[in-house]
Amino acid sequence: MIVALNNKSNLTKQEFITYQQQLQQINTTHKLILCPTTLYLEDVTISNVELGAQNVSCTNPGAYTGETAAIQLKSLEVSYCIVGHSERRKYQQETNEQIREKIIQLLKEKITPILCIGESQDERKQQLEQQVITKQLEEATTNLSEEDKKKIIIAYEPIWSIGTGVIPTNEEIESMVNTIKQHFPSNKVLYGGSANVENIDIIKQVSNIDGYLLGGLSLHPEQLQIFLEKLKN
Ligand code: 13P
Repeated sequence: MIVALNNKSNLTKQEFITYQQQLQQINTTHKLILCPTTLYLEDVTISNVELGAQNVSCTNPGAYTGETAAIQLKSLEVSYCIVGHSERRKYQQETNEQIREKIIQLLKEKITPILCIGESQDERKQQLEQQVITKQLEEATTNLSEEDKKKIIIAYEPIWSIGTGVIPTNEEIESMVNTIKQHFPSNKVLYGGSANVENIDIIKQVSNIDGYLLGGLSLHPEQLQIFLEKLKN
């Protein structure tokens, strides 16, 4: 399984140093992808994780103050990058078109995009969830070659489940992942949204997911070790 750790904008430099020492103790056969804030990408020295970024510029390097270009991430040995996270869609008004441009930049540098998609609570109430994620998928990958599309990892993260402790039923997750796999049959699909040591015994029974994208849990290495052990069973 793939387990990606999205630290979001948490941890001071000192806290990150301690965190990294704890993370280093984790012993697992699952693939761990650590996505710290861009600031700390260069400070990751542990060998049991691969490196992921949380964001990338839509553009080539140049006069774009505050942006981080894909080629710069590559020069820090970044192998993965989250794009289209609902927090960026909401707070930075990121559009599917911009997400598509980010995916193109990443693929040019052979960095694997982790494309986040998911519906809001209102959209689910109106039974629009399948339609919403299909549109997100289609617009974020318009005109990409079939070969390039296959390189993307897709993370299904229902917005109403992120950081809330509320999780979809297994049937709901399975049905959304089936929809994703109808469009992208050979891509890895992750689930994200309040996954933790208490609910993983249930979620792991969903047969069509290939891993998890963890927010809150990513910040607690001891809990993470327990989570990873539960995944094995
Ligand atoms: P939580 O695990 O804190 O719900 O966050 C999920 C997430 O947004 C990962 O990208």
